[in-house]
Amino acid sequence: MKKRLALIVSLFLTFMLALAGCGTSQSEGTSGGGKEMKTLKVATDAAYAPFESLENGKIVGFDVDLVNAAAKEAGYKANVVNVGWDPLFVEIKEKKSDLAVSAITITDDRKQTYDFSVPYYLSTNEILVPENSTISSGADLKGKTVAVQNATTGQEVAESILGKNSPHIKKFKNNNLAIMELLNGGADAVIADNGVVDTYVKNNPDKKLKIIKDDSFPMEFYGLMFPKGSDLKADFDKAIQKLIDNGKYTEIYKKWFGTEPDLEKLKQGK
Ligand code: ARG
Repeated sequence: MKKRLALIVSLFLTFMLALAGCGTSQSEGTSGGGKEMKTLKVATDAAYAPFESLENGKIVGFDVDLVNAAAKEAGYKANVVNVGWDPLFVEIKEKKSDLAVSAITITDDRKQTYDFSVPYYLSTNEILVPENSTISSGADLKGKTVAVQNATTGQEVAESILGKNSPHIKKFKNNNLAIMELLNGGADAVIADNGVVDTYVKNNPDKKLKIIKDDSFPMEFYGLMFPKGSDLKADFDKAIQKLIDNGKYTEIYKKWFGTEPDLEKLKQGK
């Protein structure tokens, strides 16, 4: 009888130890100190390669690598969710997401409603046209039809040339649809960020497109976007600066753009 009790007790203890074992193997989501690491919901519009796009159902890109590295540095986990461009602003305004990363330009207008991190990428708009187009500057777009992604700085640039409510500006919910419109002959040009336009032309030589640069288009800086007053901004500012200082930023930049970032120019955006 005693033996049996001993057996039951030892089985019970083994069982408890096994359970405890499971506990530690699941501790992935905790930081070194053993305290739970908070998972942040990060909103994006994954139709803007090489910053964010879907590859076999997975969201990949420069922004994704950067936000993951910054979150890790700040002691968080990032869960990047593809919500779309217009909804992304609602998500942050209503605090349904903790932050957004989506090649978002820091503008005075947006700063009224949102907080931004320190700048993490220097950008400008470019014009994408068919190879045989006669358009050679922004001014040449007068009288032409221009496709843009809705509510982007590309739309603002188009409006500055064609007028605010111009019927010649076609607005799409994502940038891929704007490019499609150009390819289908429904527009004479697309205006979008240089990183995206350059990558598209490089990856699609069969589409016979060319890039028009216009020096009068403003310099823009991307930032992570937070709800106004979010405590996360300070954490992520510090983390981004750390990644810039320790070379991790340069590593991620080279992976996606194949060139060295201009860290001096990036500082000008502060
Ligand atoms: N940089 C531009 C802006 O902030 C376009 C960004 C579009 N981003 C995207 N993921 N679709 O207005």
